[in-house]
Parts: sequence; structure tokens; C-alpha cells
Amino acid sequence: MGMRATLPAAVLVLSLGSAPGGAPDLLVADFEGGDYGAWTAEGRAFGTGPARGTLPGQMPVTGFLGRGLVNSFHGGDSSVGTLTSPPFRIERRYLNFLIGGGKYPGETCVDLLVGGQVVRTATGPNDRPGGSERLAWQSWDLGELAGQQAVIRIVDRRTGGWGHINVDHIVQSDVSLQEVPRTVELTLTRRYLNFPVANQATMRRLTVAIADGPTRELDIQLAEGEPDFWVFMDVGEFAGRQAAITSPLAEPDASLLQGITNDDTLRGAEDLYREQYRPQFHFSSRRGWNNDPNGLVYHQGEYHLFYQHNPYGWGWGNMHWGHAVSRDLVHWQELPVALYPDALGTCFSGSAVVDTHNTAGFQTGPEPSIVCIYTAAGEPFTQCLAYSNDRGRTWTKYEANPVLGHIVGSNRDPKVIWYEPRRQWIMALYLDGEDYALFSSPDLKQWTRLSDVRIGDSTECPEFFEMPVEGKPGEKRWVFYGGNGRYLVGTFDGVTFTPEAGPQVMHYGNCFYASQTFNDIPPADGRRILIGWGTMEMPGMPFNQMMTFPVELTLRERAEGPRLFINPVREILNLHGRKHRRANLPLPATENPLTGIEGDCFDISVELELQGATQVGLDVRGIPVVYNVTARRLSCLACTAPLETPGGLLKLRLLVDRTSIEVFAQDGEVYMPVGVIPSDYIRSLDVFARGGAALVRSLEVCELKSAWG
Ligand code: FRU
Repeated sequence: MGMRATLPAAVLVLSLGSAPGGAPDLLVADFEGGDYGAWTAEGRAFGTGPARGTLPGQMPVTGFLGRGLVNSFHGGDSSVGTLTSPPFRIERRYLNFLIGGGKYPGETCVDLLVGGQVVRTATGPNDRPGGSERLAWQSWDLGELAGQQAVIRIVDRRTGGWGHINVDHIVQSDVSLQEVPRTVELTLTRRYLNFPVANQATMRRLTVAIADGPTRELDIQLAEGEPDFWVFMDVGEFAGRQAAITSPLAEPDASLLQGITNDDTLRGAEDLYREQYRPQFHFSSRRGWNNDPNGLVYHQGEYHLFYQHNPYGWGWGNMHWGHAVSRDLVHWQELPVALYPDALGTCFSGSAVVDTHNTAGFQTGPEPSIVCIYTAAGEPFTQCLAYSNDRGRTWTKYEANPVLGHIVGSNRDPKVIWYEPRRQWIMALYLDGEDYALFSSPDLKQWTRLSDVRIGDSTECPEFFEMPVEGKPGEKRWVFYGGNGRYLVGTFDGVTFTPEAGPQVMHYGNCFYASQTFNDIPPADGRRILIGWGTMEMPGMPFNQMMTFPVELTLRERAEGPRLFINPVREILNLHGRKHRRANLPLPATENPLTGIEGDCFDISVELELQGATQVGLDVRGIPVVYNVTARRLSCLACTAPLETPGGLLKLRLLVDRTSIEVFAQDGEVYMPVGVIPSDYIRSLDVFARGGAALVRSLEVCELKSAWG
């Protein structure tokens, strides 16, 4: 099956942690703090604390560990200074550290002093123009100095080219890290690199460097023993090339990087979509973590769903844009990752548009480009573009990214729409606190700030669109909402959004966040379709989290003003299986009226006439969904919503999947997505009235087929 990354047993991987059979490593300094702590800096070259990577005017610094390092390029090459450690005892055979920068003995160097004398010294590798700012391991054998007090002094006395020194991660160990290769090399012959993951393992940074291709960096909990699950990297497009997989901090256990295999299929594919808690009609990623839906857009018969994705772990991290397409919002096909992190940062949330008029000029053939507008979450956060001219199958990042520079805080999550009256793009962007802003652009590349919007108690992930007001022909309103769905309804004149009402609550559930609606739904359809992040843990699964079921929004005039109504998209019909109907059924009944109906996934619609009962509801695989008539509240577990029943009629719609129950009440007035894992053993349903009578006017239970076939 798996083709092992071939390498001689000796060529491997050692670490910080401990040497095989040796004493644990002793960290002298990792320079992750905001200042130098007990170290003493003199002169200007070392600044006031560790650098966070590259300094202004410097070539990119790589090869250091974590976020901080010693970098004497403060003030450029002309500055000088020293950085001296407090005294420490030599307690291991080797002193290891990462070093880079200038190769000038005595001038750009690290010295070890014992009794005031320099007993060891090392420099970086560069003494001519060009070169590399990459740090590499250096190890000193201090065997004969065991037990002595020592001091480390980092020196920058050199001005001019390469007049600086970079140092990181100083550690005493029984192992010489300099002599330990940490790279596995292999020829990519098959489509997937499979990585074994254990949820309890140490998080490590790996780089996968592909010859004449990208170098992909990832944080991953590589399994040291039995993996909990396998994750994969699609390397199909690099067939035949060499890949070097490197872990700067790999363990002494030689099996660690050798556990990575190159295969035709992803490991565990035989169980794919058959896992115990795999949502059967909600999208979830084959492997790893998802959060926000991104770039929801309809194009050429396909709904595109991108999503915040960690391909390499069960938790949040390594933000990529995962990608899936569907022709009916119900059956999804996962495609390769659309956006990989790059030098500008990992890829945070954003949106996608079809550039019908080729305003950005990315189009090459007859078909308009799809353009993704996303946040590059580097230092600082900026807004960037990527485009596809082949219906989203391959993606190119715009070479002049970013298109919108940093404004404030962790500004992020651009939602872009086409604004026909001015033939411009409009971007809603999250700024900071509860603040959002609107921008306009003729071409997606140049953005002008228009106005600001504040939504009380809301952060992140703006959404902004216009909708007809139902029942009021010709009337439209704009809706603006944030990550938690609290929404404002108002008007927009092309520059300023003026709220008339809100913020209002969009949902009453426990598993809904960062939702988005589709751009470019054809006018003939005209629906406003929304998908949210279903914030639901999937314990023990090789994936985690899901998307909420696509819902259709309508804006209806109420006494209190226009309100969003939310109902599942009709395409759920595509999964309807056996149907069970009941009508004119008096409650309480002596026997459970739904006896004999069994399953794990259902679409249930019920209309109940309240005739004196104090509570009515359904028991869904052991989970009660209850309307408390006296309190006028609808509840499921800890989720609860106010709800009126004009004329004594209660209408409920329930979508039941393996990890959620989505409740819709009174034709969409209340939307309550509830994350819950019903017991595997309870597969039955019940409908009940307590404290008095009720009549089931009608009830339909549809068993739902799996969307995964
Ligand atoms: C919302 C969010 C966004 C951000 C993304 C990062 O859940 O925090 O603001 O872009 O997730 O994954």
C-alpha cells in the first residue's frame, strides 16, 4: 500500500525533548518573550527584545523556531552591540543553537565564555552579497567543560554588508542537533502524502519543500505511535518531483517522519463518509477541521463552498481555503484545497465573486473568472485576491497582493458584492471591536473607504446584501450582519448604510457562526441562500465541525418592522426517502403515534393545534423539542426562543442529522440550529402533549437518505 519515504535508518531526526536514553534537554533560551528577560543588551543592534522574524529592510529570515529570535539587524547593518546571557551551568554534553547572519569571526558571532575567556565561538554563513538569512543548527561539544559556569555572548561589532547575527533556540542536550538530519527526501510518485496524526502528540512545524515548486509549511501533531487518524496533502500536480520533508524539531524516534507515506489514496478512504458521526446531509470536510464558510458563489450550474480549513489536524490552525461544489446544495463534492498559506500569511475568511465584466482583467478564455477576496493573516492582516479561470478547479494568487493594506487591529473577512447602480464592487470588512467599514472598487484591486458601520455586540465576518421586502412589491432593504448573525435592516445609497432597525437576532441555536450568503444566484432563482459554520465537535472522528444546512432567507414585514425568516432550501427533497404521515391525531395519545418509525436522519414537519396543553413537542431520538405554551417559548436542550402561536397553531420543521437538530418554527420566524449527538441506540420519535390536549393537525416524517451515497 503505502510507499514509505525511503531513507537510511541512520538519517533521521532528533530533537529537543530528550536524547535516546539521555537526560532531558535543558532550554537556555528560546527568545519567545517580549523582552530579553535576564539577558543584557548593549548598543542598538539587538533592540529591546527578540525580533519577530524579519526586520525592516532585511531579506526574509527563516529557520528559526516559534515566533521570536535574536536578530541584530535593528537599525540595519550599521548598528552594533552585544547580548549577554546570565551565567548558567554546563550540564549536558552539547550546547545547540540556531545561527545565521554574518560570517565574521569576532565581529558577528556567538561566544561561550568560561571564567571570562572565550572557549567556543561560531559565526553565521554569509560574508558576501546574496546569501541567505536562514538559520541552521550549530552544536558545541562541551564534554570537557561539564559542571562549569558559563555565559553566552552574542556579538555584533560589524557594520556594512552582513554586519549582523541571528540566533535562536539555545538548548543543552546529550545530542548534537547539528549532526542530526531532520529531512526525509522522497520522489513523489503518487497523489497523496498521508500523515499520521495523534491528538495528544506535540505540535510540530513541518516543511514540505517540492523541487521547482512550493514549500508548504504546516503545524501538525505527528503521531509517534498509533495514529488517531490520517490527514493528507494532495501532491498530484507534482508527480515525479523530489520532496524534502523537514521537521526542525523532530523527535529522536526515527519512525516519526518515516510514518509519512506517499499513496494513491488517502489513508482511511475505505471508511470515508461512513464514519460514526459523519453528518449525512451536512457538509463536512473529509479530513481535519473546518470553520467559516467562505466564498459562497454560484457559477455555471455549481454552488461553490469554500471554507476555513485545517487539513492537518482536528483543531483550528494552518488556515487554508478548503473547497467543495454542489449542483443542488445537498450533494457536495470536495475538491482540492483552493488556497494555501503563503508568505503573506495563512488564508482567513473572505468571499468570492464572478467577475462577469472582467473588471480585474484576470479572464483569459471565454469564461468569466471567479475571484476570491480573502484575508492574508500575516503580520499585519491584509486583504488579497486569488482567481480561477477554470470554474474554480485551479487557483492563482494575484501577483500584486495585497489589494487592501492593513487598517486597524486584525481587520479581516472581506465580503464583496457587485453594486449595479454604480457598477462598482462593494466590500464590507470587519475592522476591530464592533466596527465594520464599507469600501468600493472599480476592479477589485483598488479600494476606497466609503463609510463605517457598527453592530452592537457583533464582531467578525460581515455580510451585506439587498433583499425584497415580501408582500411589498418594489420595496427593498439592505441587511448587514456580523459573525453571530445579529443583523441590521436599513438602506444603502452606494456610500452609506443607514440602519432603520436592529440589531435583531437571526438564530437561537448553539451551533451557528460566521454565516455567509451566496453571490451570483441567477435572477431567475432569486433566492438568498445562507450557510453557517456548524460549530459542533465530532469526537473521535478524523474530521471536526460542519456546515449548517443551507437555508433560504426572506424579509417579511412585521408589526415591529422587517424581519428575516429562515427556512431550509427545498433541495432537501432530493434526499427524501420513506414518508410517514399522520393527521387529525388527538394528544395525549395512549400509545406513541410514531411507533415503528426508526432512523438517524429525518425531515419532520408538524402542525399542532393547542387545545389546553401546557407543553407540546417532539421527542427526537431522545432529545426533546418542546413548546412551553404558558411561557410561550420554544426550547431544545439549553437553546430557547420566544415564540407566539397566533390562533393556537404551532408549526415546526425539524432537520435531524447525526450531530444536529435544526429547528424552524412558524414558517421560519424562529431558526434554532442545535448541535447535539443523539445516542446511537435511540432511533425513535415521539410526539406529545402534556398538561392538556392538543391535536396533531398534520405530521410528516421523511426519512432522509445520506447525501454521500
Ligand atoms: C471567524 C474567524 C474569522 C477569521 C477566521 C479564521 O470564525 O475568526 O474572523 O477570518 O475565523 O479562521
